Amino acid sequence: MEAIKRLLPYLNRYKTRLYLGFLFVTISNICSTLVPRYAGKAIDQISIHNATMSGILESIAIMLLLTAGSGIFMFATRRTIIVSSRLIEYDLRRDFLYSLELQPAAFFNKNPTGMLMSYINNDISAAREFLGPAVMYAANTITTFFFVLYFMLGLSWDITLISLLPLPLITIGTYFIGSKVHNAFRDVQEQFSQLTSSAQETFSGIRVVRSYLREAFESLRFEGLSRQYLKKNMKLAILQSAFIPGIMLLVGFSLLIMLGYGGRAVIQGNMTLGGLTQFYIYLGLLIWPVAAIGWITNIIQRASASTARIFSIMDSMKHGLQNNSSININNDEKIDGAIELNSVSFKYTEDMPNSLSDVSFKLSHGSSLGITGTIGSGKSTIVNLLTRLYEPDSGNIFIGGKELKNIDEGTLRKSVASVLQDTFIFSISIADNIKFGRPEATIDEVTEAARTAGLHEEILTFPAGYQTVVGERGVILSGGQRQRLALARAILRNPSILILDDAFSAVDTQTEDYILKRILPNGKSGNGSQSSLPDYSRTCIIISHRISTVKYSDNILYMNDGNIVESGSHPELLALQGRYFDTFQRQQLEEELQKL
Ligand SMILES: Nc1ncnc2c1ncn2[C@@H]1O[C@H](COP(=O)(O)OP(=O)(O)O)[C@@H](O)[C@H]1O
Ligand SMILES: [Mg+2]
Repeated sequence: MEAIKRLLPYLNRYKTRLYLGFLFVTISNICSTLVPRYAGKAIDQISIHNATMSGILESIAIMLLLTAGSGIFMFATRRTIIVSSRLIEYDLRRDFLYSLELQPAAFFNKNPTGMLMSYINNDISAAREFLGPAVMYAANTITTFFFVLYFMLGLSWDITLISLLPLPLITIGTYFIGSKVHNAFRDVQEQFSQLTSSAQETFSGIRVVRSYLREAFESLRFEGLSRQYLKKNMKLAILQSAFIPGIMLLVGFSLLIMLGYGGRAVIQGNMTLGGLTQFYIYLGLLIWPVAAIGWITNIIQRASASTARIFSIMDSMKHGLQNNSSININNDEKIDGAIELNSVSFKYTEDMPNSLSDVSFKLSHGSSLGITGTIGSGKSTIVNLLTRLYEPDSGNIFIGGKELKNIDEGTLRKSVASVLQDTFIFSISIADNIKFGRPEATIDEVTEAARTAGLHEEILTFPAGYQTVVGERGVILSGGQRQRLALARAILRNPSILILDDAFSAVDTQTEDYILKRILPNGKSGNGSQSSLPDYSRTCIIISHRISTVKYSDNILYMNDGNIVESGSHPELLALQGRYFDTFQRQQLEEELQKL
């Protein structure tokens, strides 16, 4: 319940609409609860045979007017309260998505995509149902009750009490059946999302499915999921069909009691026929508001669980940020590319050994660093720390002379661009993919970046050139093309630090050489024609297990088991005749063998 209070600031923004809504629902209910009075009056006139046609017509006219008034104001109520709940849902979803986007990387390891989607869909909808329908029906129930009870008690207090007796059963009934229906509905939804994601996985992996002859197996799996979906839908259908008849049964009880009691009162002359009719209609007016109480209770429970989840994530975002860092996505400040690691140690989880132990190195702005070494030696972990996806356990990291945790996140992300082996390509055009980090870039700049990444010529061979849409996750591109597209994207951003982590794994050595000539500061690998991109001075970190990739760097680190075991320039490391030298010789031999 605490969590629901946190929706108040959101409600507050639309309070004029909400107050109007409350006013409208009150007026609507005054109109609807006055109708039975005129019905009763007309019937009384008829039953004591003093009715005139004009008198009856007058009653009918008033009843028509009141009913129309009630309808119009109910419409206005919906237009105010339900509309504000949609507006609040929009605000809430926007704030929530924003907070998700700012979560640290570790957050996404713990929370799978499906779960986040369910927060965005189900939990926010639950909050909206509370803010809209629940608030509206609560207001409706309260005002209806107030007026109906007032009029009923004015007629006869004992019949009122007796005919109200079964009503709590209706509330309890809707509460229990309602929560069962809801659970069944949620089961159906979950089953459906399993069904669709299984189908999606099969289709995105269709090549693997085919080549391993798993079609029949996948079909069978789908059939199983589909059958379960059917079963769950049937269960929901049964509950839903039982719901209304169940309520109607209880309603019938109420009416029976009232008719029995009221009928006796009419026979004994304690009540008029018109009075009894009024009772009958009043009771009818109470049914749905009474049922709504059970339903609202359900919604409130769901909404409080949902808002608790939503706000705990929004809060964790705030706590996740370091004390004095702030996020200003819109600033244009860029930091200089000097890097220093000062005995940095880090482990991903408590029960694991260090992924980096006491790592130190220094890099001046505009220089290049190669990192190579054994698999799992912590190369990528250095990137994760530099881009601040994780915080070091001990030691300090400085970029541009500033301690990393004091650098504004927006500035950091503008200054550091990394290209990883595993790239993500969006299903938009090639040009838009390259412009992803700088939407305002001109087509010339885009072309230049693609040229630097060694991709320009290939893009021109596509049917629509730069406007070619690359399909889901870039399916129409080869692995190497995807990597170079990601590289062009990073280059276009013109960062002060460019990190390439295994970014050439699917690119042949010749193309790799061509690219390295263009991106390395000073064009180390020979007569490289320099790119004409503005401000070309940047720090480069190139990570690869291939010595041929890192050998042009000013300085090279050889890593093993979270430690830097050798460091120096390519000639220096060769002269050392250590592990770097061994690896180099072995890789050269392999290359020779491949040529044969
Ligand atoms: N997200 C992660 N969670 C837990 N352990 C990880 C994670 N990423 C890497 N590791 C572990 O940290 C060590 C270093 O990994 P990494 O830096 O990726 O090595 P590499 O030098 O091959 O890039 C490895 O033992 C790896 O298993
Ligand atoms: Mg790696």
